[in-house]
Amino acid sequence: MSITRRRFVLTSLATPIAAGIASQIATQSATATAPAFLRGGLNQSSKLRVIKVGVGGMGNADLSEIMKHKMVEIVALVDIDQRQLDGWTKDSTNEKGETKKAALPNVPTFRDWREAYAKLGNGFDAVCCSTADHMHAPISMAAMNLGKHVYCQKPLAQGAWENRQLAAVAARMPNVVTQMGTQRIATKWRQYGGQLLREGAIGPVKEIHAWTNRPAGWWPQGNPRPTGSDPIPAELSWDLFLGTSADRPYKDGYTPFNWRGTIDWGTGAFGDMGCHMLDVPFYELDLGAPISALCTPVKASSDQFPESESVVVKYAPNKMTSKNGLTLNWFDGGQFPDFKALGLPEGWEGGEDGKKVVKGDGGVILVGEKGTMWFPIEHAWARIFADGKPVELKPGEFSQTNHWHNWVDACLAGKKDACVSRFEKGGKMCESLSIGAMSCLEPGKVLEYDAAKCVFKNSAVASAALKRTYRKGWEVTNL
Ligand SMILES: NC(=O)c1ccc[n+]([C@@H]2O[C@H](COP(=O)([O-])OP(=O)(O)OC[C@H]3O[C@@H](n4cnc5c(N)ncnc54)[C@H](O)[C@@H]3O)[C@@H](O)[C@H]2O)c1
Repeated sequence: MSITRRRFVLTSLATPIAAGIASQIATQSATATAPAFLRGGLNQSSKLRVIKVGVGGMGNADLSEIMKHKMVEIVALVDIDQRQLDGWTKDSTNEKGETKKAALPNVPTFRDWREAYAKLGNGFDAVCCSTADHMHAPISMAAMNLGKHVYCQKPLAQGAWENRQLAAVAARMPNVVTQMGTQRIATKWRQYGGQLLREGAIGPVKEIHAWTNRPAGWWPQGNPRPTGSDPIPAELSWDLFLGTSADRPYKDGYTPFNWRGTIDWGTGAFGDMGCHMLDVPFYELDLGAPISALCTPVKASSDQFPESESVVVKYAPNKMTSKNGLTLNWFDGGQFPDFKALGLPEGWEGGEDGKKVVKGDGGVILVGEKGTMWFPIEHAWARIFADGKPVELKPGEFSQTNHWHNWVDACLAGKKDACVSRFEKGGKMCESLSIGAMSCLEPGKVLEYDAAKCVFKNSAVASAALKRTYRKGWEVTNL
């Protein structure tokens, strides 16, 4: 998605990078004192003072939603791209010559989140992170190390180790409120699907089949690493985009948006869309770390995730699964589960507003010992099939919540458990997604996962992506 397709007017400005601040943040302890807000910080109005990191793309939506809460004050905007910052702080003119007033003209801006954290010190209570995936963990962990609340986009983090650590640190900080940005979990359709699973409507679950049509031309995957370099736009801090990841020359088109297909920065279609579809099943079935993963790719590449793939991820049994455990069959890029073999139609009448539910761009099928459930992402109630025929279900009343305000309210009330997608839960699921996504680095081989060490027992190359070495100077305590 090009920047010109967004609502921003281009201008240029340079902000110097703060030197040495990373090490300052890195030395903070994860058991630091409670956030400034809970300690009665600088802001006497008791508003939640939020630093917004990443303000373009989904950061736009995150900022807009969080700002709507009347007890929120945005105290700083951070983005590596000045054009994105200007979109919030400077008036703009559209193609018709109409002027749009800036929404946040007086909010301080930074290119470097480390500089913002250090400058604001006790002047902020929380961070909302909507950057490229590889920076989720450093930005969120550094905030938690300072005792700040965090809302972080999905996937919670890129590598299995980062996910594990974010969940563990969040768990041991009673005053830090966290939320992963899977806002679809708040919809009535997904609440109902969760209820059915909790009530054991399909019995112990044996298999999950999940699919997305992405990347579907939305972003590139399956290509070799580009050669050469392009001039870095004056508005872009390329070194700050790279952050913890390995150094590489800038090429046009890496950012915004397209980074998600590159192994250094994203999690591919699996990590990107898996979060939206698998969160409720993972949370309700209480799935832990997988045992193994096997990727069968089309157009594998050592630089990008495959053009398309199927991945088989295996789990040990628990009280919600069949006694033989559970197998997750993942498909992306135009591959689908075998609906016929599952005894299912490829769609059904009865979606929201009378629309037909089709296999379309994604969904989840759960095979239980008592029935098979098709769990659409949204806009349709889950449906259970027994012997190929739909079972009559009567969804009750569900009140839709605002996922962002769920987090803000929990921060204000000091009730971390009120968040439906807190890091303890999100991190556990995203550890699995990381294992599935990174298994493409050694395709065609059953990779055995060593959960204690967070590595594959039999693949050094894929293990390196589960537990990454950060670029020198970018180390963060607890990661
Ligand atoms: N919950 C959802 O429905 C949803 C939808 C889209 C994207 N997302 C997630 O949101 C995140 C961003 O995705 P996107 O599509 O908006 O990407 P994007 O590249 O369009 O936007 C990211 C923004 O963050 C900025 N940025 C990148 N690295 C940064 C850094 N280190 N510090 C500060 N700013 C930085 C970029 O300049 C850009 O403005 C991803 O993790 C993605 O998975 C979630």
